[in-house]
Amino acid sequence: MSLPKIVVCASGEGSNFQALVEASRSGELRAEITGLIVNRAKIGALGRAQRLKVDAKILTPAKFESRLAWDEAMVKCLQTWGAQWVVLAGFLVMVGPRVLNSFPDHVINSHPALLPKYGGPGMYGDRVFEAVVAAKENETGLTFHLVNEKYDEGRILHQVRIPILGNETAAQLAHRVKLEENRLYPKVLNDVIHNPS
Ligand code: GRF
Repeated sequence: MSLPKIVVCASGEGSNFQALVEASRSGELRAEITGLIVNRAKIGALGRAQRLKVDAKILTPAKFESRLAWDEAMVKCLQTWGAQWVVLAGFLVMVGPRVLNSFPDHVINSHPALLPKYGGPGMYGDRVFEAVVAAKENETGLTFHLVNEKYDEGRILHQVRIPILGNETAAQLAHRVKLEENRLYPKVLNDVIHNPS
């Protein structure tokens, strides 16, 4: 039986992308990663795709005549790679309506906080951890959720709590949360894809 196909979308370092590819190749993730879409060149994720020999495509919204044209190019690329699931891993562009309508309830994101806290427009990257530490929270976490037309508001699929250690800096916390995210993303995807609720 052929495995379900996933295309990953990333905008940064690509550690989650790599974790998913490795989990797929080891058999831990029962799905195949057939491609990587990025929204800009010169990012770590692209180098990782090259090293891992995964097809990658750069689709930069500003290079299209409209946001809709970009959205349609995304759909075309996803279809070319036979995607059944679209997995966002640090993708910093709002996914368009064409993609959402073509993959209903099949676009997944991970957010490094306990949504709805520390989510929404502008809450990405280091800002999330800086805000969590500044608020002197004693725990944070990870939220895996479906993607809809609003930032970080789709149905929550899975959440884990992560205690914040005394005197931990935002950078230290970010590092620890990322390691946990890399470890958990394949497990969450297995659950969502193979045991849908
Ligand atoms: C992850 O922490 C993800 O949750 C967030 O951006 C980060 C991406 O990291 N949205 P990487 O590019 O996968 O290393």
